[in-house]
Amino acid sequence: MFKKLSIILLLIATISCSKQEKDSTIEIISPNAKNKISFNLKNGIPTYSVSHGETKVLNASNLGFVFKKGDSLSNNFEIINQSETTFNENWEPVWGEHKTIQNNYNQLSVTLQEKTEAKRKIEVQFRAFNDGIAFRYVYPEQGKDSIIIMDELTTFNLNDDGDAWWIGAYQDNRYEYLTTKSPVSTLDKVHTPLTIKSKNGLSLSFHEANLKNFASMTLSRTNDTELKADLVPWADGDRVKTNGSFTTPWRTLQIAEQPKDLLISNLILNLNDSNKIEDTSWIKPHKYLGIWWGMHIGKYSFWESPIQGATTKNAIEHIDYCKKFGIDHLLIEGWNKGWTPAWYENAMHMFSFTKEADNFDLKKVTDYAKENGVSIIGYHETGSNIINYLEQIDAGMGLYNQVGIHDVKIGQVGSRLNMKEWHHGQFGVNYYRYVLDKALENKLTVNFHEPIKDTGERRTYPNMMAREGARGQEYNAWSDGNPPSHTAILPFTRMLAGPMDFTPGVLDVDIKQGYEGRDVHTTAAKQLALYVVYHSPIQMLADLPENYDGNPAFKFLQDVPVDWNDTKVLNAEIGEYVTTVRKDKYSEDWYLGSITNEESREFEIQLSFLDENTSYEAQIYADAEGITWNSNAEKVHISNKIVTSKDTLKLSLAEGGGVAIRFIKK
Ligand code: NOJ
Repeated sequence: MFKKLSIILLLIATISCSKQEKDSTIEIISPNAKNKISFNLKNGIPTYSVSHGETKVLNASNLGFVFKKGDSLSNNFEIINQSETTFNENWEPVWGEHKTIQNNYNQLSVTLQEKTEAKRKIEVQFRAFNDGIAFRYVYPEQGKDSIIIMDELTTFNLNDDGDAWWIGAYQDNRYEYLTTKSPVSTLDKVHTPLTIKSKNGLSLSFHEANLKNFASMTLSRTNDTELKADLVPWADGDRVKTNGSFTTPWRTLQIAEQPKDLLISNLILNLNDSNKIEDTSWIKPHKYLGIWWGMHIGKYSFWESPIQGATTKNAIEHIDYCKKFGIDHLLIEGWNKGWTPAWYENAMHMFSFTKEADNFDLKKVTDYAKENGVSIIGYHETGSNIINYLEQIDAGMGLYNQVGIHDVKIGQVGSRLNMKEWHHGQFGVNYYRYVLDKALENKLTVNFHEPIKDTGERRTYPNMMAREGARGQEYNAWSDGNPPSHTAILPFTRMLAGPMDFTPGVLDVDIKQGYEGRDVHTTAAKQLALYVVYHSPIQMLADLPENYDGNPAFKFLQDVPVDWNDTKVLNAEIGEYVTTVRKDKYSEDWYLGSITNEESREFEIQLSFLDENTSYEAQIYADAEGITWNSNAEKVHISNKIVTSKDTLKLSLAEGGGVAIRFIKK
């Protein structure tokens, strides 16, 4: 079949190129023959367009660059080479949503050369997948040892308007904003993933894959519904500094006929290099408790004080809780010197990555943890003082090695790295990769907060577990919080990029021990459901352990896995609801999570995903009758039922609520 397709593709390419000089079009189509990319060169100017079946998605869109001194590389081209290839393989992620992932695409590579004296070459590689399209530029070394990119001219000229879910680029809190929904034709400058429900009926999401040694791409609207790549600049205005050659990240467009299909796309991962870590036995997906929420709700302080969270005594109590609950990881923040009550303000804070805070004995705590079968998760808050961090990174990570810590959360609170550079500019992109490499050298897994956006690097670095990169649960602790719809938007936006350390699991939904008037804006059952709807190989059990102790709903959090054999999305509408089922990687059990925004909903769910001819015990954690996210939200109704794959289940979700189910194979 694939051979046949290659021949057809070659034919299309050859026939249309016969009048190459003036106007040549080369087409490449996805293996399922739905997503088509048409490359065109007319009067030396290259463009591309994209369609899905009969539907035009992108009209002729620009390609090219502007280098320093207004030197542009965008016209006067001829095609000097073209090739088409087909690729199809199945690969196994170290952890993830599926045991096996198919990577199947058709690729067209076109090498262009300027007809002017400079005769510079640039190759554009296009890939057509069943779940979208991607392309990147490869600029080979050609006689210069430095090239500065001042602009990328790539445009995405949408044929139709539609609703876009977006957060603005270039803001001090990085990606931590509520998402706005408005027509594409009203956008200004936005971050990716940018998700669109097009008037043509398709669900689309723009992003990028394998972002390394380049600036992040944000999107800026030029006119009507045309978006343009807008590379995040360095402080000096340069966009990308190269040493004479460069390969851009993949510019990606996921295309789905229904919103739920966006959620199972592996396009971003498939565009990253394969796993570079041979021995992955030290990388362990896990759930974790923390000395953390207490700091966010004001029960504890990060810094040395009478309510200091990270004391040896408190750590030992938390280790005891871990043991009691059967949770084998514990995050401890604020264990080191350098924290002050103003730690989060923009300044070059001087955190130490080796010196313990008063009242905290790292060796004693890690020894006690080891004796009790618990792993401590280390914490490095840089405060965005990257100079200070990089001076100490070897010592800091080395210390974790010495005391048997295998996982580190790394924070970059601050509006600019070193009070100067955007987190998502090329400086930041390179910084985060450097830290990831350092962590790998030290056999540490990483959880970045205030990160660079995820572009699928977990495929290459399976020690890159999860990251923040959106407003997480903590906003509910000390701000007006995230409205119920926020959690129903994230799967279609931020989470298309990759796993998020959202830190769900707050069952004391009214935050009784915290700042007055704060709550988590969901029901407790929805907090449970988030563990299935939001995939992450590390999931925090964010609440205070005393709020879990004796709470029957906590059983679901003890049971729910973090690594999956299979994933299916049963229903989904952007910002409204999502119902996801996942099969455990290490048992025959399935789990279901269903969440809604401010509206209550009823779903009839067919259980046909279960194995046939066998029964399952369904342990159901649902919103108690009559509750809403702001009235009796903590009440979970727990029931049991025997079901088979032929049954349907009725789910009732309260306003801002959810349902979580474990299906145990009998
Ligand atoms: C912000 C992070 O998101 C949060 O998880 C952490 O506790 C604080 N910074 C302190 O570093």
